[in-house]
Amino acid sequence: MDITAVKTEPYQDQKFGTSGLRRRVSVFMQKNYLQNVVQSIFDSMEGFEGKTLIVGGDGRYFNDKAIQIVLKIAAANGFGRIIVGKNGWLSTPALSHLITLNEAFGGIILTASHNPGGKDGDFGIKFDTSNGAPAPVSLTNKFTQRAKIIDRFWWLDAPDVELGNTGKKQLGNTTIEVIDPVLDYANMMQKIFNFKAIKKLFNSGFTFTFDAMNAITGPYAKYIFEELLGLPQGSVVHAVPLPDFGHLHPDPNPVYAKHLVDRMNADDAPDFAAASDGDGDRYMILSKKLFITPSDSLAILTEHLPNLAYYKNKFYGVARSMPTSNAVDKVTKRKKIPLYVTPTGWKYFGNLLQSKKITLCGEESFGAGSNHVLEKDGIWATLAWLNILAQTNKKPAELLTDLWQKDGRIYYIRHDYENVNAENARHLMDSLGAQVPTLPGQQFGCLTVKSAEIFSYEDPITKERESNQGIVINLSKEARVVARLSGTGTMGATLRLYFSRKEKSYTDNPDEVLAPVILAASTILQISKYLEIDVPTAII
Ligand code: G1P
Ligand code: ZN
Repeated sequence: MDITAVKTEPYQDQKFGTSGLRRRVSVFMQKNYLQNVVQSIFDSMEGFEGKTLIVGGDGRYFNDKAIQIVLKIAAANGFGRIIVGKNGWLSTPALSHLITLNEAFGGIILTASHNPGGKDGDFGIKFDTSNGAPAPVSLTNKFTQRAKIIDRFWWLDAPDVELGNTGKKQLGNTTIEVIDPVLDYANMMQKIFNFKAIKKLFNSGFTFTFDAMNAITGPYAKYIFEELLGLPQGSVVHAVPLPDFGHLHPDPNPVYAKHLVDRMNADDAPDFAAASDGDGDRYMILSKKLFITPSDSLAILTEHLPNLAYYKNKFYGVARSMPTSNAVDKVTKRKKIPLYVTPTGWKYFGNLLQSKKITLCGEESFGAGSNHVLEKDGIWATLAWLNILAQTNKKPAELLTDLWQKDGRIYYIRHDYENVNAENARHLMDSLGAQVPTLPGQQFGCLTVKSAEIFSYEDPITKERESNQGIVINLSKEARVVARLSGTGTMGATLRLYFSRKEKSYTDNPDEVLAPVILAASTILQISKYLEIDVPTAII
């Protein structure tokens, strides 16, 4: 089989963002587009000849063709062994786990995470390093630089590898191992959590449904919840990964998983529900007529995870992304646990997890994880909740009200202005940045600005600095506004505004509590002037 250097032209838009490179499927399907990205990744690194690479994807449209391209380029570049999930499937946390389990050089995951799929949807690619963490910015910058000037990629001319059944195959000099995508991951979960206790909870009549949103967690959830934990068949819904996610937008939040929220608001709702996203790293937790915000969920995990056997005496600290609410800060303060606040994006947690500064981390964007893998993990978060429910013998609502009683309730909401003109959004942020020094002391309705800052971060391990990571406005009454631009969108820009406010009373209407905060923000930001729209496209 021939390995050749194929001439190519660079694309100037191959810039890696918050989480890998994401573009429309039609962009990725352009001539040599994916080939350029994959080769740029390999050209930016050294020492992988003969080593192992893990490859998988979330099953979205183009996954099947893209996997073959990745395999052939990786083989042509000299990887000795490639482990790939059957059908080309792997969830992001499972891929991360396989990297460390097999002492691999790294892994390539084909996913646009929670972005819509199908022919008209999005596609993406991400590289995880040998510790199973998303490539750090210093490395993704190299990918971006290389992609700008790439002029050839290595190609192994060979028939497609059969991925429909497990087993060893040969691709040139490279061994391809097609494996069951679920088993190793499920074994890891059984080592972390007390499956016996969760089984007992289910046997006691506690009802649970898991919504895989027609995405990658379907096979994982069916095996773990139905086969291992004995839930009745059909408890896992939307369980078959489909190229277009069956027209669901695989983002587990109250907007895009409204069908699940409606189900949980019905009188015959199950006791507990969870959902995950396209590639299985996000999670949403619901109980009967109750949505638990990811920020509150992180606080509850911080409260109870240290009591689970696996984490006992190994609970070093917690980190949250800056826009995540400070509900967790109150728990760490009370329990004297170290807390870190990082920029948005999972990649900032990797060093903290690995250097044992933290054990748990989470984001308001429905992500949570621990040091079991260096990616966030939706099924892990769901199992963590189930294990805590089993161990504490409390209902989800009780865990939440316990938290609010102790620390007050941090009311929280996010407004997204999606797909707006990128230049206008930049102007809005620049103008807000310019206002930062003069905001303190100004009064907006019943709220006064206490402080304002452009968030920057220094990694405690590498001392690398990240500046300009969003703007934070702290107001009186423990209210806060955060504004930042998304780094994962594929069209125009997305402005994200995060609002929070603390109240002792926890039964108020969130809309009323947050209305003055939202009003203050709209006066300060002048959203309608810059963006020519005055209502958010998603309220989460
Ligand atoms: C979004 C979330 C962020 C998350 C990322 C990847 O990034 O806000 O918390 O880590 O997706 O799942 P953004 O689009 O805001 O840059
Ligand atoms: Zn995801």
